[in-house]
Amino acid sequence: MSENQELKRHCLLVPVEGVLLKEHVANNYKAVSAFCPDPSDLLIATYPKAGTTWILEIVDLLLHNGDSETCKRAPIPVRIPFLENTTRLAIPSGLDLLKAMDPPRVIKTHLPFHLIPKGFWENKCKVIYVARNAKDNMVSYFYFHKMNLTHPEPGPLGVFIQKFMNGQVNAVPAVPWGSWYDHVKGYWEEREKRNILYLFYEDMKENPRREVERIMRYLDLSLSDDVISRIVELTSFKIMKENPMTNYTFLSKPLFDHSLSPFMRKGEVGDWKNHFTPEQAAEFDEDYEKKMKHVNIPFRTQL
Ligand code: A3P
Repeated sequence: MSENQELKRHCLLVPVEGVLLKEHVANNYKAVSAFCPDPSDLLIATYPKAGTTWILEIVDLLLHNGDSETCKRAPIPVRIPFLENTTRLAIPSGLDLLKAMDPPRVIKTHLPFHLIPKGFWENKCKVIYVARNAKDNMVSYFYFHKMNLTHPEPGPLGVFIQKFMNGQVNAVPAVPWGSWYDHVKGYWEEREKRNILYLFYEDMKENPRREVERIMRYLDLSLSDDVISRIVELTSFKIMKENPMTNYTFLSKPLFDHSLSPFMRKGEVGDWKNHFTPEQAAEFDEDYEKKMKHVNIPFRTQL
């Protein structure tokens, strides 16, 4: 069997401390948990498909005074290593990239709060978390499963909704990186104690300039109004979809098949309405109420 055939949909999910991770991520977790960041490093954490690439591009531009050429120096996962990633087919692993970079570094992770290497908290690193409402996040993850051939087959949407709701290890089938519900709650509960900047995808869509300025202040930067306007423009969905350094066309088969669904797909709030039947939405909402009843995270499912 060729490497390509083997890779296609060869995706085992392995539990690590109660969270299902892709096999290669789970096997590498010991090394990841031992990673010791510099206090100047910035961690950006998200559940997959919450708008990670968007926030990474905003931060890179903020740190480079809106210089679009500098921010085209490499594809986004090379500029900003993906901590737990070990797929070495197209880009080096996150840990290998980090070894070759001097702090301050920006680091991406999808790990839930309790799996973040302790060094980030011991060194009081800044952390930005972006959350997206469950229904849109689920729809985006469904399309990502279709096009990312290293993820398990999503099955039909109705089946995938069940997988998403059953994000826990002992509730098979489930999705990689575990429960969306536990993920968003984990960072929410720690945000004040750990000085985590907790952002929402919907807020970024509603008023990107306001959110870019919020991030700028968190990073102790002060950029001119013109530069901020440029960053807002450069990180619009339209521009990022055309930018080869952000649209993931640098990853193609056997990893990503953009013909099945482009990485930069729609970028909207409320797309879930085009996908859920009324019955599916009612079941999802009822389950959501149960799982989220003890926290009051102000998610919006439409603008
Ligand atoms: P959709 O699938 O709903 O279009 P991640 O980077 O965490 O994988 O998230 C990808 C999702 O964020 C995709 O959502 C993608 O289109 C959306 N996205 C990426 N850049 C964006 C931008 N500049 N503005 C709005 N949405 C963006």
